[in-house]
Amino acid sequence: MEVVISTTPDEAGKLAADAIEELIRRRPEAVLGVATGSSPLLIYDELGRRVAEGSVSLAKSRAFMLDEYVGLPEDHPQRYLSVIRDEFVHKVDVDPAQVSGPDGLAADLVTACEVYERAIADAGGVDLQILGIGTDGHIAFNEPGSSLASRTRIKTLTSQTRRDNARFFGGNVDAVPRHCLTQGIGTILEARHIVLVASGRGKAEAVHQLVEGPVSAMWPATALQLHPHVTVLLDTAAASRLQLASYYIETFQGKPSWQGF
Ligand code: GLP
Repeated sequence: MEVVISTTPDEAGKLAADAIEELIRRRPEAVLGVATGSSPLLIYDELGRRVAEGSVSLAKSRAFMLDEYVGLPEDHPQRYLSVIRDEFVHKVDVDPAQVSGPDGLAADLVTACEVYERAIADAGGVDLQILGIGTDGHIAFNEPGSSLASRTRIKTLTSQTRRDNARFFGGNVDAVPRHCLTQGIGTILEARHIVLVASGRGKAEAVHQLVEGPVSAMWPATALQLHPHVTVLLDTAAASRLQLASYYIETFQGKPSWQGF
C-alpha cells in the first residue's frame, strides 16, 4: 500500500488523474471503476480539464460504478447513476452508454447483482478503481461486518452512513434510503489498481484503521491491505492519526521518478 500525504486536496486530485492518464495512454479502452461521494470530485474535475485540453481522452474507455441506492426513482438527483452522470460523465468524453451501475430499481434485486458481476467480468475486470471511504470504514457500501470475500449484493445502510449522507438529501436522514446494492469487497479487490482518496479530520480514524489497523470486517477498508496495488491519497487532516506518517512522507519524497503509481 502506497500512502501519499498531500498538503492540498487539489494535489491528490492531480495525482489520481495522473494515474488515470497514464493508464489510458497505455490502454485507451481501459475499464475504470468510479465512485460517488465528495472525495472523488476533484479527480473528475481534473480529468475534465485534461479532456478539454486534449491531453487525455476517455472516448474508448468504459466505467463501472461501485454502488446504488435501492428504490430511488430514475429522475432523483441523488440516484448514484444521476450523480455519476453529473459529476463524471458530463465532464469527460466517455460514452454515456459505457457507464453502468447496479440496478437499484430492478424488480429482482438478487438477479440484478448477479447480472452486474457478470458485466464487470465480461468487460475484463476493472483496471483502476477510484474509492472513497466512509467515516465507519466502509468502502462502496460495504458496512462494518461485511464479508471480506463478498460479491455484489443488497446491503442495509448503518444509521451512521445514513446520517453522513443526509447532507445530500437536504439534511433529512429519513429521506436517505435504507438499502443499497453494492459491489462486494471481494469484487473490489479484483480491480488491478485501487486509488483511494480521503480528506478531512472526520476520516482520520477510518484512514488509520485502513492503513495501520488489523484486517477486520469491523473496518471493511482494511481488506485493502490484502491487495498488491493500492494507492492512498490523503490530506494532512485525514492523515493526522497515522503513526508512520513521517515515513510515508519520506518514502514519497524520495521516490524515483521512474517509479509511477
Ligand atoms: C458513500 C459512498 C462511498 C463513499 C462514501 C464517502 O457512502 N457509497 O463510496 O466512499 O460515501 O463519501 P464522501 O467522500 O462524500 O465522504
